[in-house]
This record gives sequence, C-alpha cells and structure tokens, in this order.
Amino acid sequence: MSYPEVRPRRLRRSPAVRRLVEETRVAPAELVLPMFVKEGLAEPRPIASMPGVVQHSRESLRKAAAEAVHAGIGGIMLFGVPTDKDETGSGGIDPDGILNVAIRDVIAEVGDAAVVMSDLCLDEFTSHGHCGLLAPDGTVDNDATLAAYAQMGIAQAEAGAHMVGPSGMMDGQVGVVRRALDAAGHSDTAILAYAVKYASAFYGPFREAVESSLQGDRRTYQQDPANLRESLREVRLDVAEGADLVMVKPALPYLDVVAAVRDEVDVPVAAYQISGEYSMVEAAAANGWIDRDRAVLETLTSIRRAGAQIILTYWAVDAARMLRERY
Ligand code: PBG
Repeated sequence: MSYPEVRPRRLRRSPAVRRLVEETRVAPAELVLPMFVKEGLAEPRPIASMPGVVQHSRESLRKAAAEAVHAGIGGIMLFGVPTDKDETGSGGIDPDGILNVAIRDVIAEVGDAAVVMSDLCLDEFTSHGHCGLLAPDGTVDNDATLAAYAQMGIAQAEAGAHMVGPSGMMDGQVGVVRRALDAAGHSDTAILAYAVKYASAFYGPFREAVESSLQGDRRTYQQDPANLRESLREVRLDVAEGADLVMVKPALPYLDVVAAVRDEVDVPVAAYQISGEYSMVEAAAANGWIDRDRAVLETLTSIRRAGAQIILTYWAVDAARMLRERY
C-alpha cells in the first residue's frame, strides 16, 4: 500500500464527481428579492452605493416583480420610500402610503405565483430614521411603537401581503402584530420575524436606498454583535409569540448564529444578506479584485450550508440565472 492511504482528492477530480458529492445546493425557489419603491418616481433611480439595485417607480416595480417571479425565485420583500417623512412615520400606516399601494400593485401583478412580503417597520417613514416612535426624552418608545406596528400590519395584510416582516426589534412586536392580524380577520397572513437583528455597520447602503438620515444609532434596540445566546432567546420569544418563520440578519458575518438558530427552533429559518454584504462584493468585483459570480454563489452556498433555508438577497434574480446555468 502506498502512502497516503486516504486520498480525499479522488472526490474532487472532475466536475462530475464534485457535482455528485456536493452537500449543499441553493435553489432559486429559496431566494427572496428585496425591492425598493419610491413614491412619485416616474423612472427607476439607481442607488449609487448598491450598483445594480434601484428605487423603483410603481410601474417599474410591477414589471421587475413579474420578471423576478418568472426567473423562478420564491418571493419578494417590499420596502417603501415615501416623499414625506414625519415624526410618527404615518406613511407606513396610511392605506394609500407608498408601501401599501405597492403591495397591491405587486399582488395584482404576480398573485400567488410567489410569496409577497412587506417590511413592517417605521424607519423608512420617520423623519428621524428610527424604527419606532420617540419618547419625549428621545429614546424609542417600545410600547407606543407596538401600537403603530399593529396598525401597520393590518394595513399591509389588507393590501394583500402574504407575509409581513416585523423588523424593528421592539419587544413584543410579533405577538402584537399576530393578535392585531387575527382580530382583523387576517389569521392567514404569516409573520416572518426579523427575530435576530444585529446593530450592524453593514446596513450602510440601505440608508441611501430608503433615504434615511438616522439620528443617533440603533444600539438600544438592535443586538450587540458580540452576543450569540441572546439571539437564541430572541428566536424562542418570537416563536412563542407566533412567528411562522424566523430570520437572522445580517447573514455572512453571523453564520454561527444562523447555525445555532436552526438548532434551537423548528420553524423555517431565513437569513438576510444585507445591503453592505452586497455592496462589498460588487465594489471588489468592479475593481477586478474578485470574480463576482463565483463570489455571489459562494456566499449564498455558505449561508445555506450554515442552515438558512431561505435567503433574502439583492442577487436573487441574478443568482437564479447562475444556478440554472450550473445545474
Ligand atoms: C428595517 C430594515 C433595515 C433593513 C431591512 N429592514 C434597516 C435597519 O434595521 O437598520 C436593512 C436591509 C439592508 O441593509 O439590506 N426597516
């Protein structure tokens, strides 16, 4: 017997063998595309810090949503950008507010062919950029915000959203939205809870996407990146409050959290590959420093391998194309 006796390289020698033993595959149906729609736009407008991503007009959103569904992705997550923001974020609750109007538009376009989700949070709608209502001392008032989220959830369900995504990290947000939906006759509307959400520097480009000039930071409600056990508590609470799915956000810097959350609960686990994760790869690729398509698939595969069954990614449509070419 020659040395070495064990040769793992045998299973890497050809594309056919590698394909046969591949442990993790990403399917287009597991990908969800976040989309931005801005009130009053005639034409889509590029977001400079997210090359390839735009703020849609109502018209271009409908068209792009139809194309995304045609590409085979599993869902769309909608974000609205109002022209006027105010202290209380009233545009998020108004049935004629841009997000609620856009939900109706997209449902009219794609129906049940994909899952239509909406971000349930006030930061796109408030003049101060926080995810909730401010108390007189300037802190974010948890319980006052819950009442606003309940109304916002009803407005989104009434507009036809299949799933709402409470993302403001207020304590009790899932329970309050679940009760409000049930009381309003929307017991079939599901809740995708942004259960684990870290106070991350990687949200940077998103601020441009939704034109938010955040005053201060979000560290009194989003989680400290240093903590893992706290995330398990957050997901247990959200599942107890009625979350149908739980999400971890950001994704790539938190793969250990994704894996731990998957072990902790038995509801589907999603991960959100956020704006800064997208922009880092795009910026490096634009400089010729990395191979964009390979890097994109590598990140998605890693997030999937860590245990996320669903991935929200700005590359959803492009990745669906790459995956079709690959398999
Ligand atoms: C809250 C929300 C945010 C993102 C998704 N939902 C911003 C935040 O919490 O600070 C970030 C998404 C991204 O960066 O791509 N409405």
